[in-house]
Amino acid sequence: MKALILAGGAGTRLRPITHTRAKQLVPVANKPILFYGLEAIADAAIKEVGIIIGETGSEVRQAVGDGSAWGVSVTYIPQEAPLVLAHCVLIAGEFLRDDDFVMYLGDNLLEQNLREFVDGFEADRRSSSTSTPGPEGVAGPTAQILLAQVPDPHMFGVAELDPDGRVVRLFEKPADPPSDLALVGVYLFDARIHEAVRAISPSGRGELEITDAIQWLIDSGYRVRSEILEGWWIDTGKLTPLLEANRLILETLDRCIEGEVDGGSQLDGRVVIEPGAVIERSRVRGPAIIGAGTKVTDSYIGPFSAVGRRCVIERSEIEHSVILDDSRVLGAGRIEDSLLGDHVEVTRSDRRPRATRLMLGDHSHVDLA
Ligand code: G1P
Repeated sequence: MKALILAGGAGTRLRPITHTRAKQLVPVANKPILFYGLEAIADAAIKEVGIIIGETGSEVRQAVGDGSAWGVSVTYIPQEAPLVLAHCVLIAGEFLRDDDFVMYLGDNLLEQNLREFVDGFEADRRSSSTSTPGPEGVAGPTAQILLAQVPDPHMFGVAELDPDGRVVRLFEKPADPPSDLALVGVYLFDARIHEAVRAISPSGRGELEITDAIQWLIDSGYRVRSEILEGWWIDTGKLTPLLEANRLILETLDRCIEGEVDGGSQLDGRVVIEPGAVIERSRVRGPAIIGAGTKVTDSYIGPFSAVGRRCVIERSEIEHSVILDDSRVLGAGRIEDSLLGDHVEVTRSDRRPRATRLMLGDHSHVDLA
């Protein structure tokens, strides 16, 4: 079993942050989203990982390296233009060969372990007497999809199941969804998917859709297994789901205070203060994380906040926000539901208390006069 992680894509829905960084490297609870996927893959005992990279490829290479930090070996597969999923399978043919693989969208975050899905697929393949459809025995699954119930299925690929839970049809972003079961961005395939991606034609938006390739497998008589997710799943490509993912991951962290906290400060609940961080005359209410080397003075950091490394926060209130590295928030009043890039500076010239909602790219400078 190999893994193919998709980390190309332009990240247009997270601009301006993604003008200067790969969307898969935006941190959630101070760790790049992509690293959670790599951890899940390593935990599922997968050793060979292909990563599809695009324009932000050098940044991804620098962050992930050869994969040894996760005990995996990484092969980078550059794509010339941001293309959708089935095309990624096509260009990864040489890396994948005839092996089974997990295809993992690099901006997806799952609460549940990948391991149980991989084990379920492989056990079903072993217990079935053949992998070819036909009268000679029970056909093993050739693919497995993960489904999650969502309130807005028209934003995703959607599955229609028969009463026995078998996948009958898949629709990509249907105007009139047949169910509320969205395709999660984690798929398992055997080598037959290569035949499928070669057989399909571009969709209405001119792209080779993985949904159509899986439909081709079903129509050709192959079995496609489905599992319904129990835990949460977030496609982090936009601000609101990104903040939601930050909230969910922060809730799983254990309290750990390694930086310096003066006697005039108070830390409540699940708080992580990384080494070298300094908290002075401030209150941090968890769940929250303050990155290494960050200084918080005369401020309030509220629940569901992740402050990156080497930041300076003075005379400000921050809640339910993600702030990347090397940013400065000085006398800024209250900032909530916000995502600030790195090297951002937010200041305010007067002292009238106000709440501010921000989405700021790297090197932004905002004066809240
Ligand atoms: C892709 C797939 C879609 C799936 C989604 C999950 O959509 O085409 O079927 O539900 O990922 O994140 P995209 O996010 O590329 O629009």
